[in-house]
Amino acid sequence: MLLLCCLLTLAGVSYAQSFAEQCQSFRPSIPNVQVNVLEFVPKGTNLSLPYNDASCNQNWQSVYGTDFCRVAMDVRTSNTSNIILEAWLPTNWNGRFLSTGNGGLAGCIQYADIAYANMYNFAVVGANNGHNGTSGRPFLNSPGVVEDFAYRSIHTGVVVGKQLTEQFYSSPINHSYYLGCSTGGRQGMKSAQMFPEDFDGIVAGAPAFDFNHLTDWSGWLSLIAGTDNTSASFITRNLWTIINNEVIRQCDSIDGAVDGILEDPDLCQPKLETLLCSPDATNASACLNSGQYDRAVKLFEPLYNASGTLIYPRLQPGGHPGAYPLIFGGQIFQYTVDWFRYAVYKDPSWDPTTLDQADFTYLDKLDPYNISTWNGDLSPFASRGGKILTYHGLQDPIITSENSGRYYSHLSSTMRLPPSGIDEFYRYFRISGLSHCSGGPGAFDVGQRYLGRPADVSTPTNNVLQAIVSWVEDGQAPEYIEGIKWVNNNASQGVAFKRRHCRYPRRNVYTGTGNGTDENGWQCVF
Ligand SMILES: *[C@@H]1O[C@H](CO)[C@@H](O)[C@H](O)[C@H]1NC(C)=O
Ligand SMILES: *[C@@H]1O[C@H](CO)[C@@H](O)[C@H](O)[C@H]1NC(C)=O
Ligand SMILES: *[C@@H]1O[C@H](CO)[C@@H](O)[C@H](O)[C@H]1NC(C)=O
Ligand SMILES: *[C@@H]1O[C@H](CO)[C@@H](O)[C@H](O)[C@H]1NC(C)=O
Ligand SMILES: *[C@@H]1O[C@H](CO)[C@@H](O)[C@H](O)[C@H]1NC(C)=O
Ligand SMILES: *[C@@H]1O[C@H](CO)[C@@H](O)[C@H](O)[C@H]1NC(C)=O
Ligand SMILES: *[C@@H]1O[C@H](CO)[C@@H](O)[C@H](O)[C@H]1NC(C)=O
Ligand SMILES: *[C@@H]1O[C@H](CO)[C@@H](O)[C@H](O)[C@H]1NC(C)=O
Ligand SMILES: *[C@@H]1O[C@H](CO)[C@@H](O)[C@H](O)[C@H]1NC(C)=O
Ligand SMILES: *[C@@H]1O[C@H](CO)[C@@H](O)[C@H](O)[C@H]1NC(C)=O
Repeated sequence: MLLLCCLLTLAGVSYAQSFAEQCQSFRPSIPNVQVNVLEFVPKGTNLSLPYNDASCNQNWQSVYGTDFCRVAMDVRTSNTSNIILEAWLPTNWNGRFLSTGNGGLAGCIQYADIAYANMYNFAVVGANNGHNGTSGRPFLNSPGVVEDFAYRSIHTGVVVGKQLTEQFYSSPINHSYYLGCSTGGRQGMKSAQMFPEDFDGIVAGAPAFDFNHLTDWSGWLSLIAGTDNTSASFITRNLWTIINNEVIRQCDSIDGAVDGILEDPDLCQPKLETLLCSPDATNASACLNSGQYDRAVKLFEPLYNASGTLIYPRLQPGGHPGAYPLIFGGQIFQYTVDWFRYAVYKDPSWDPTTLDQADFTYLDKLDPYNISTWNGDLSPFASRGGKILTYHGLQDPIITSENSGRYYSHLSSTMRLPPSGIDEFYRYFRISGLSHCSGGPGAFDVGQRYLGRPADVSTPTNNVLQAIVSWVEDGQAPEYIEGIKWVNNNASQGVAFKRRHCRYPRRNVYTGTGNGTDENGWQCVF
């Protein structure tokens, strides 16, 4: 026994050494690629990231997964543009390739997502989306940077990353995946629409698709909320809490459970008149005056274009308090400002308070590099067997979940397929009590990113990444996704409750007892 133990240990050490050597001696040969960093990184390392732009607010990343070979590269995407691409190639590779995505307008490599997929032994890549830092300023007079942002950064990372992976392991990739949320969700959808060969399986959360209209909408909401927070009609943070409590009061029981969480906000049509100040109101900060009421009503409506066509749906009820700091807080949503100033008008002095229908029409026509990402025909992707698992938080304050339902209808009507046909390649899960990509009062950990959950807790029924692999490789399509609410949102403190999130267009209804924490009391109804 003793001998066996030590031989195995020695074998382990020499394997690790040979992997480290293999890493250090790796000389990839790929056009337009310049390797800047090549290093063996053992599990447990606190990786320092000095090159990440300071505004990305990430200069280190814990490696909690597995030992890997790190390759950081500069990749030319045109004569005037480049991406920074990072690849993590694990020791115990599972034969799968995975690309991560980005967020907002940001040019930041999402190391946290790379480290997350590394935990499951994927060969992972992530890129900076063609520019450095969170601002949209690099778009200014740089069409190549806008083009990278619209589609080319991810696609280039995939083309290069696949070659790199196969050269490193001297073995073909068995399957290719994507994981991203928000802008990352849009990037996943863009890949399916434009490069159907890039991925076998795509997990796209809270997609920022119909991107131009989304950008119009956020700016429009900010202007209705108002930029003068001293105005009598400005709705304060406190008042948003009061409004939301009333929305919950009116709509919480629609799903059968009074737990503060709406399972189907589409069915909620709140009547805000109940909040109007009565003539004898003694406390003006607990009710809506006339101007506040007008704004609040508008902030629950969709955006229509100048000819009266709906171009972006309403913010779903339940999302409003969360929109306070970024959209309703008295300033205009920063991404809208940056997008119009730098990518659309190429004028840093453009005044966002002038935003109106003329700007929406102009942007519709411009649609830089087809960034709209609204093609409803996924047949090239579907017919080669590709699968998309998409999810959206029902308390998302930045990208309304109603837009994901709207795309589902667009897909269904474009492809002339009922839900049973869509189910073959596209499944959309509405995650109650989830804010934007993570956070919120519900069972929001669905394995979309690292939230402290140990790897052995994950299964294809409670982890979107495992679910997509199981669907692509074993044909096990996810019927629902079981989310976990951790005590104090801290996975080391155990489970507070779990809930099965239904696939669209089904909705969750509670027939159990108590307040909804009994997982088996829920069922998905059509
Ligand atoms: C990693 O190192 C940085 C300093 O370089 C430190 O601020 C951070 O707390 C460390 N993280 C962990 C998990 O130790
Ligand atoms: C760069 O410019 C040269 C000369 O104009 C052209 O031949 C080449 O294709 C360009 N490369 C890229 C990556 O666009
Ligand atoms: C890729 O798939 C083949 C066939 O299923 C399998 O034999 C091989 O081990 C897989 N490769 C890796 C690296 O897992
Ligand atoms: C981003 O930063 C990296 C590292 O400092 C640099 O090599 C790269 O050229 C920068 N990218 C752009 C588009 O400026
Ligand atoms: C109003 O806006 C100003 C300037 O942004 C800020 O300093 C102040 O805290 C805001 N007041 C409230 C009540 O939000
Ligand atoms: C007025 O209502 C606000 C919001 O509900 C509350 O915080 C405050 O204590 C109330 N003031 C009085 C005097 O009742
Ligand atoms: C409004 O949207 C519809 C549908 O996309 C379009 O046909 C129409 O031209 C748009 N109107 C304006 C003024 O952009
Ligand atoms: C946008 O997409 C359309 C339709 O797929 C295509 O014809 C056009 O060339 C694309 N435009 C750009 C700038 O990529
Ligand atoms: C999570 O809970 C553990 C165990 O109680 C505690 O040690 C840890 O500090 C908590 N983490 C956070 C981020 O609060
Ligand atoms: C729901 O009920 C359970 C069991 O009675 C209780 O432990 C839990 O605190 C309640 N949760 C909420 C959100 O009220």
